[in-house]
Amino acid sequence: MRGSWLLLFALLLLLLLELQTSDGYLHVVSSRCKFNSTEADDIRYIRSYSYNKLEIIRFDSRVGKYVGYTELGVKNAERLNNIPGELERMRLEKYRYCVHNIQNWYNNILTKSVEPYAVLNSAPSDGKDRVLVCSIYGFYPEDITVTWTNHQETITTGVTTTDLLPDGDWYYQLHSHLEYTPSPEDQISCVIEHVSLKEPRILDWEGALSDGDRNKIAIGASGLVLGLVLSLAGFIFYKHKSRGWFLVSRGS
Ligand SMILES: *[C@@H]1O[C@H](CO)[C@@H](O)[C@H](O)[C@H]1NC(C)=O
Repeated sequence: MRGSWLLLFALLLLLLLELQTSDGYLHVVSSRCKFNSTEADDIRYIRSYSYNKLEIIRFDSRVGKYVGYTELGVKNAERLNNIPGELERMRLEKYRYCVHNIQNWYNNILTKSVEPYAVLNSAPSDGKDRVLVCSIYGFYPEDITVTWTNHQETITTGVTTTDLLPDGDWYYQLHSHLEYTPSPEDQISCVIEHVSLKEPRILDWEGALSDGDRNKIAIGASGLVLGLVLSLAGFIFYKHKSRGWFLVSRGS
């Protein structure tokens, strides 16, 4: 009796595990246009079918037919390629979807640009070398140039730049790192060039102290001075009074 309960419990547990791991299936179909001019020859139409993130089949206007990437995809590509009129219909999709809209995209989207905002920070590093990070956020379109300079001379060594990171909302970000050995006469800057900027944006490295640090030091120093003045006043007052008492006690 106890054995069968245990078996039932085990089966229930298995069922639960099964339900937890199989949380659905996803079939995604995407159509996209890749282009570098408004000419039909420079426009490519790609329709792609994916199952659980794995691309299984694709129609590419450059290829002119369906190509399968998995066993299921290969079978279906063959089936689709043999449907009368299907490939002709798909070749026309490039004109209906891409070529028809291309002027619109050029006039209304590709002319837009959004300025980046950028910050220059130092990252912790061991030893006497220092790592500066120039972080650039929220720009569009993606083409951007970041360079490091010392007294306006371009620095070529110690620079690493991350891949362009799409934020997923049309904007992009990028981070560039400079590793260098500081010396007092350095004048390091991060220079950003982007289509949204009339002239390059230059961020100068102000040395070890940021504005925030400088403010904290100023507040601390004022506090210290105020404290010294008050203690001095207190001391003088005390001396004055105690001398008074001394005189009084002597006179009595
Ligand atoms: C667009 O790219 C293709 C190659 O992919 C190239 O042959 C063509 O010259 C390019 N057109 C322009 C306007 O850059």
